[in-house]
Amino acid sequence: MRVLTVVGARPQFVKSFPVSRALAPDHEEVLVHTGQHYDEELSAVFFDDLDLDQPDYNLGVGSHTHAVQTAQIMERLDPIVAREAPDVLLLYGDTNSTVAGALVGANRDVTVAHVEAGLRSGTRSMPEETNRIVTDHVADVLCTPCRAATETLEREGLGDRVHETGDVMYDALRWAERIARDESAVLDRLGLDESFVLATVHRPRNTDDPDRLAAIVEALVTHPAPVVFPVHPRTAAALRDQGLFETVQSELHCIDPVGYLDFVRLLDAADRVVTDSGGVQKEAFFLETPCVTLREETEWDETVAEGWNRLVGARTTAIRDALATPVDATDRGHPYGDGDAAERVVEVIADG
Ligand code: UD1
Ligand code: UDP
Repeated sequence: MRVLTVVGARPQFVKSFPVSRALAPDHEEVLVHTGQHYDEELSAVFFDDLDLDQPDYNLGVGSHTHAVQTAQIMERLDPIVAREAPDVLLLYGDTNSTVAGALVGANRDVTVAHVEAGLRSGTRSMPEETNRIVTDHVADVLCTPCRAATETLEREGLGDRVHETGDVMYDALRWAERIARDESAVLDRLGLDESFVLATVHRPRNTDDPDRLAAIVEALVTHPAPVVFPVHPRTAAALRDQGLFETVQSELHCIDPVGYLDFVRLLDAADRVVTDSGGVQKEAFFLETPCVTLREETEWDETVAEGWNRLVGARTTAIRDALATPVDATDRGHPYGDGDAAERVVEVIADG
């Protein structure tokens, strides 16, 4: 089987690598990086950390409006799909790179497979929600990470395309957890020898709304323990625009975004994580690090139902309360599979 994989944003490098490893022995893979993320710390560092082959193509699209970014990926990807003539076009998650790949594949003679299918947050104002819905309805093969995602697709009339493979992020995390503990020097490098909170923020709903961003910053800067804050470039720009950058820099332990192994080490060692990331909510759950989510809803309801994740939105008091409240959770369950999702994805797509 010849597979053409499209990735472009940070979480997609993490999601694709277990599948690339599972494909390697028996199948051919052409890797296309759209260039949606291009800074070293959002892109190259993952290829080093995960020992990934360099992409066969980099479309170099860079940052634009959603429409322009999606359109440019489509325009540059289409001739590559035509030339490479893959059997399967493999897509991950819900970014503009994902939906652009789905729309290109829909009009070419190729099986489109979507990994992490069936997730919904119910918020159509998020571009990711539109990307997920369009991609799921266009794709031929839908690999879901959990039961709820399968049921969602069944309700949408797509049940005959669904395969519940489990979550490839769990495979990635299981691989990274031990290596990160053995090899990452991030705790020493940052001088972290006491308990700390890890924070990540990058959703436009939080960064681009001055009230929400100010409320989040207020909760973090007044937290009594150190807060380690790897700052996404979108967030750095918003903090500067809103005059909050200096406060955040002086009160928090701000760092550039870190590679996957360092991030997993930080998340494992942290007392809590405060985040609006989708992937980080789940990784926190896998590592049993209590999570405080800066959103009103989540695609990952299981993490909330099992008591490891609290949705607090962007209200200062709610964030503070959640950080101060002990977690009422015991050993977590396995709603996202057993860590063999990548092999199952490969079996499913190889079966056609
Ligand atoms: C994108 C995805 C989001 C995902 C996130 C992962 C969409 C609609 N959004 O959001 O689902 O959670 O990636 O991190 O696809 N920038 C840089 N350097 C880079 C990349 C971006 O400075 O390498 C800055 C640019 O100013 C850019 C902004 O960050 O405008 C946002 O980048 P973009 O890729 O558009 O969206 P993300 O917020 O990263
Ligand atoms: N991550 C990382 N370094 C960081 C922040 C996040 O390696 O400084 C990883 C994290 O472990 C997870 C992924 O990036 O695998 C999540 O990406 P992000 O939060 O940007 O996107 P989302 O999951 O919300 O789409």
